[in-house]
Amino acid sequence: MVDVSLVNISHSYDGGKTWAVQDINLEFESGKRYALLGPSGCGKTTLLKIICGLIKPSKGRVFFEDVDVTEYPPEKRNVAIVFQFPVVYKMTVLENLLFPLMNVKISKDEKINKAKEVASLLKLEGILKEPAHRLGPADRQRIAIGRALIRNAGIILLDEPMSSIEPDRKYEIKKLLIDISRSLKRTMIFVTHDQTEALTFGEKIAVMSPKGRLLQFGNFDEIYHKPSHEFVGFFIGFPGMNLIEAVLENNFLNFGSFKISIRKEIIPLKTGTRLKVGIRPEHVRVSTVQLEGHIPFKVVYVEDLGRGKCILHLQNDSIIIKAISEKELPIHSTAWVKFPEDYLNFFDESGQRIM
Ligand SMILES: Nc1ncnc2c1ncn2[C@@H]1O[C@H](COP(=O)(O)OP(=O)(O)OP(=O)(O)O)[C@@H](O)[C@H]1O
Ligand SMILES: [Mg+2]
Repeated sequence: MVDVSLVNISHSYDGGKTWAVQDINLEFESGKRYALLGPSGCGKTTLLKIICGLIKPSKGRVFFEDVDVTEYPPEKRNVAIVFQFPVVYKMTVLENLLFPLMNVKISKDEKINKAKEVASLLKLEGILKEPAHRLGPADRQRIAIGRALIRNAGIILLDEPMSSIEPDRKYEIKKLLIDISRSLKRTMIFVTHDQTEALTFGEKIAVMSPKGRLLQFGNFDEIYHKPSHEFVGFFIGFPGMNLIEAVLENNFLNFGSFKISIRKEIIPLKTGTRLKVGIRPEHVRVSTVQLEGHIPFKVVYVEDLGRGKCILHLQNDSIIIKAISEKELPIHSTAWVKFPEDYLNFFDESGQRIM
C-alpha cells in the first residue's frame, strides 16, 4: 500500500518528435481505487508502464511515498499489472496461483494456504483443479488478478481488464475488484476507455486528452457536472455535452440565430466575450408547444434508446444539438427548447472551463 506520485511526467517514444504523455502530475493515495480514462492512443498504457517501471519516462519523476523510484526496475517496485488479455499458464488454476510464489522462501503449506485465501477472495475455490487455459475469459482474468494479489503487491494496475470478458460477466469482475480493494486496501489503478467502467470503479477518475495531457482528476460529480475542459464534457455522458459557440452581450447569450437571456451573476464576464456554452442532452428541456423563453428547433433525427427514451437531434439554422426526451417527436416537427441556466457550462475558445 503506497502513495504514488507522478511529477511532471512526459514520455516520447521517438526522441521528442511526438509525445505519448505530456506534463502529467497525479497523486494516488494508498488503498484507494482510481480510473484512468481517455480515448484510444491517449497514453494510458504508457502511464501504467511508467508506474510499474517497464518504461523510464523521458521527463519527470515517479515517487512511491517519498522514495524516488524513477530508476528502479519493475521487480524492485512491488507493483502487479493485469492486462487486457489474461495470461494463464497451461497448468491447473491452483498451480497458476502458486506460480508467482515460486522463488518466495516460505513453506509449501504456507504457499497453498495463501493460494486458497486468494482463491476464496476471487471465488475460484470450486475450480482449483481445472486446467486454467481451458476456462473462459472471465475465469482466466480472475486467475490473472489472483496472481497479482498473491504477491502482496501494494499497487495493482489493471490495463483494460474487462475488454476481453464476456459482457454478462463484466459486472461480476468489477464487483470482485471493488470488494477486494475495500477488504485488502490495495491501491488499484484501472485503465479504460469506457466511461461507465471508469465512473463506476474509480473513487477518483483521471481524464486524459487525445494528446496525452491530463484534463481533470476528480470524482464522478465533479467530472460530470463541472468538466474542466470541453473535451471532458463531450467525452463523458451519453451522448456527450452539447457545445455551442456564443457571444456574451450584457444579459444575453447570442448564439447567432437566437439569443437567450441570462442572469448577470451566472456569467460575470465582459460584453463581447466569445465562449462555448455547454449543456448536457439530458438537461435540455423540450416542449411540443410554444412556451415563454423557449427557442424553436426542427427535429432532424430521432434515435430510440429503448425504455421509453430517445435522443432528439434538433436544428436551428446551423446549430445542431441533442436532447434526451421521453417523447419521440416526429421528424420535421418543431421542438421548443430551453437551456436551463443552472445547467449551463462555459468554456473559453481554447476549451478551458471559465467558471
Ligand atoms: N512501443 C511504442 N513505440 C512507439 N510508439 C508507441 C509505443 N507504444 C505506444 N506508442 C504510441 O504512444 C501513444 C500512446 O499509446 P498508449 O498505448 O499508451 O495509449 P493508450 O491510451 O493505452 O491506447 P489504447 O486505448 O489504444 O490502449 C500512441 O500514439 C501510440 O501509438
Ligand atoms: Mg492501452
